[in-house]
Amino acid sequence: MKVVGGSASLPLARAIARELGAPYVDVSFERHPGGFPDGERYIRLLGPIGSDHVVLVQTTYPDPNLVEYLLLADAIRDAGARRLTAIIPYFGYGRQDKRFLDGEAVSAKTMAKHIAADADELLTMAIHNPDILSMFPIRAREVSGMPALARYLKAADVDLILAPDDGAIRHAKESATLAGKAWDHLDKERLDSYTVKVKPKALDVRGKSVAIVDDVISTGGTIATAARELKAQGARRVSAVCVHGLFVGKADENLTACDEVVSTDTVPSPHSKVSVAPEFAAAVRSLG
Ligand code: R5P
Repeated sequence: MKVVGGSASLPLARAIARELGAPYVDVSFERHPGGFPDGERYIRLLGPIGSDHVVLVQTTYPDPNLVEYLLLADAIRDAGARRLTAIIPYFGYGRQDKRFLDGEAVSAKTMAKHIAADADELLTMAIHNPDILSMFPIRAREVSGMPALARYLKAADVDLILAPDDGAIRHAKESATLAGKAWDHLDKERLDSYTVKVKPKALDVRGKSVAIVDDVISTGGTIATAARELKAQGARRVSAVCVHGLFVGKADENLTACDEVVSTDTVPSPHSKVSVAPEFAAAVRSLG
């Protein structure tokens, strides 16, 4: 087995290779220093692939990283790989998982179809809706990121884990159980892409340290709204803990409502304090 990493996931890919004890194949991402003037992606495999089983690790967000994934998968196949396992730590476009309005693309299905073209199986994490996995024409599995978050939560100053909305309940429940902490949830109403509000609910948080656990932090609007509610109800400390930290738009400003922000390395950022390499390596081992 060999491991290849795309430029969106280099540290994670190297960590997965170390966990698996598998050789890592380096990739060049520039034909000339500075890349192509028009911004198009380039990849060149710098080591032999042979007829090996190759694990390709690449988050497909934002869009150029999706293109890079397609280039890498095709080059790995052309080089002779007999099996390709795609690890997509963060699967972009997962939130458009149905046709909300006539004529819309079901973006998650579109991505699934193209990502599957050169892969034999796919592993991803904290996917927006697990039903998306059935949209892939290959075997596709969600690997839980909660054991990784629980490693952090167990050692942290946290009394209660809170899901900011219904969708995050499965994550809060799993991470709280693994970390041995209590959990609760809020109910969120999304008004538009940037604005959410929480339904009134009394929480037992006075004087407590609370970790809000979610799959994704994008603009930080969801977390900021929940954090303000917690502080208004007397919480002593609020941390924001997520698998995928996108931190777009006014996220930094929104997240000042929290005392700490923690994410995993599915999307590298200064908040990536927890690695999900052990979880993905274990999942690869269990593929058989
Ligand atoms: C929504 O269903 C997700 O679980 C997240 O709560 C949401 O994507 C976070 O987005 P934002 O940070 O923009 O509020």
